[in-house]
Amino acid sequence: MGKIVEFLDYTFEYSGMERPAVEGVSFSVEEGEVAVLAGASGSGKSTILRSINGLIPHMYPGRRSGKVTVDGADVSSTPTYELARKVGFLFQNPENQIFMFTVEKDVAFGLENLGYEPEVIRRKVDWALGLLGISDLAKRSPSELSDGQKQRVALAGSLVMDPKILVLDEPTSLLDPRTAQDVVSLVSRLNKDLGLTVVLVEHRLELVSPMADRMVVLSGSRVWAEGSPAEVLGREGLHEVGLSPPAIVEVQKRLPSGDGLALDVDGFVRRFLADVGHRV
Ligand SMILES: Nc1ncnc2c1ncn2[C@@H]1O[C@H](COP(=O)(O)OP(=O)(O)O)[C@@H](O)[C@H]1O
Ligand SMILES: [Mg+2]
Repeated sequence: MGKIVEFLDYTFEYSGMERPAVEGVSFSVEEGEVAVLAGASGSGKSTILRSINGLIPHMYPGRRSGKVTVDGADVSSTPTYELARKVGFLFQNPENQIFMFTVEKDVAFGLENLGYEPEVIRRKVDWALGLLGISDLAKRSPSELSDGQKQRVALAGSLVMDPKILVLDEPTSLLDPRTAQDVVSLVSRLNKDLGLTVVLVEHRLELVSPMADRMVVLSGSRVWAEGSPAEVLGREGLHEVGLSPPAIVEVQKRLPSGDGLALDVDGFVRRFLADVGHRV
């Protein structure tokens, strides 16, 4: 175990901008955790993710202070090809990540760039497609797939690189609620089965807070709160920083007993019955 992602008093300002996108940010993620980043639009979430996978500072110029380490290495002095093997990335829009004519070629892309033997590539691609339940799509063209299927293809392309950390930027925002639930469940399974550390930006807190170990809320480019989802969602002022707490949290805040928010349905029902069950 130990810290696999660590931000230490980190500030980044994109070139040409008048104020930092993130400022004085400190938080860490332990190996094997699912960490959710939340906050209003423009609060700095994507900037944080780009600072983990090295797009910042290697692709985006700007002014930077403090430090970001990933798996013990300082991101600013680690080449992007090395970071790419540690950190898998999934964007909001899979279109930006899918380039090839068939699904299997697309998933193989990163491995081919690293010069693996065709045999090894085939084995890894088959493994990832199987893991994500899309083996039957191998010969299809990505352009004819649904958004949820494209998201899985992009995820498979990350997983074949055998990353330690998976970073996802609003992966469900273009998906319908049902497909969003499927993608979130999949990410949770990858965390449990492969031990992948997950850093996830997601607005649908009702979907992700039950599976999250840690939650970091950004507001106005600074960390507004950090802790377990129950601690963070138990705070006052969530609406003011642009969050919509899950409905089961809102209800529990009106219940008489104080502590220990439940975030899944089972826990909620148990708490509800203990508190007011005798009256219904
Ligand atoms: N490529 C960029 N160039 C300049 N400014 C940017 C860029 N990307 C984001 N910003 C600015 O940085 C701040 C944080 O943005 P971002 O990290 O994208 O927030 P979020 O993902 O929470 O919406 C915003 O003020 C935004 O305008
Ligand atoms: Mg963003």
